[in-house]
Amino acid sequence: MSKKSIPSDDDEKVITDSEHLMWVEKYRPQSLSEVFNQKEVISRLEAIVARPNEMPHLLFAGPPGTGKTTVALCLAREIMKEYWREYTLELNASNERGIDTVRMRIKNFASYADRREGVPFRIVLLDESDSMTNDAQTALRRIMEESSKTTRFILTANYSSNIIEPIQSRCAVFRFSPLRQEDVVNYLEGICKKEGVRYERNALSLIYQSTEGDMRHALNMLQSASTLGEIDSASVNRVTGISGKSKVAGVIDTAFAGDFLGARNKMIELLQVSGMSEHDFIKYANEALSKSDYASSIEAIQATAEADYRLMMGSNPDIQLSAYLAQLAKLGKQMERSKK
Ligand SMILES: Nc1ncnc2c1ncn2[C@@H]1O[C@H](COP(=O)(O)OP(=O)(O)OP(=O)(O)O)[C@@H](O)[C@H]1O
Ligand SMILES: [Mg+2]
Repeated sequence: MSKKSIPSDDDEKVITDSEHLMWVEKYRPQSLSEVFNQKEVISRLEAIVARPNEMPHLLFAGPPGTGKTTVALCLAREIMKEYWREYTLELNASNERGIDTVRMRIKNFASYADRREGVPFRIVLLDESDSMTNDAQTALRRIMEESSKTTRFILTANYSSNIIEPIQSRCAVFRFSPLRQEDVVNYLEGICKKEGVRYERNALSLIYQSTEGDMRHALNMLQSASTLGEIDSASVNRVTGISGKSKVAGVIDTAFAGDFLGARNKMIELLQVSGMSEHDFIKYANEALSKSDYASSIEAIQATAEADYRLMMGSNPDIQLSAYLAQLAKLGKQMERSKK
């Protein structure tokens, strides 16, 4: 497979030939007009594209997989045309937790290239900025002020309430809504046709239902199901059966059965081998808990809230999630004893 690498910042992004691409990349909209739903957001952004000099900092808030990162990249492309890559710095705030790293990279970026005619400013896209600590956000606020002459920030977040007020008040806030079933199903149908994959429409609805409007998740599920042949309820059920969500539910069951080491090994495999984020892990764990026999256990709910908080604060995920599973295993054993 031949690969073409596109130089950006020091996180080199590798784009493969289109037939080998993951569908989430292959079908990622390249212009604002290709983005579906989010009508209000798009029409406000089109007004900005028409008068880019007036663009404020932007905050995109909304559920996962609804187009925030995609729209930010489309906007950069439409404002800066062929130079967009050179003048856009994409940072993932949850991977680059240390604010010093963020500051250094923004500084280097702001100084490495002179601006060209027709390029009004540089754009820093700070993805998942709601996972930054309050201290880091306070430092970010100063960085935004220092560099605001030459740079516009686009922050993305699942919850705008996790962004400190002084940053929110410096940004125009755009709210992304969950994607509608009919639109997602139509979109998936279009992809099946382009890929020449046979499908049943009700299986596409099943994909929507198990992904709750998260297009990234839906596209990944569609692509996995397509490798099993036709997209029908059987192939979709097989894929959802092995989805991350149900794997986390399995880890939680193992912990409640008292098998701490077994649960911990499965958790480490999910994080390190499958690449699941610790935030997704705890989110799915919370869902699994609410459907389990322990749904009303105050200790289990507290343990989940504590683990979530510590992960948000940037603690070591292996240690925090191991401690969490140990607590669930202890609860499971207590419950077992009280039944006897
Ligand atoms: N409104 C949309 N229209 C078309 N495609 C979409 C839309 N929303 C998401 N997608 C598809 O889903 C994939 C994920 O979208 P994106 O990365 O923009 O989500 P996000 O909102 O940034 O999610 P997260 O909060 O998890 O970062 C994209 O590759 C794109 O193909
Ligand atoms: Mg994103």
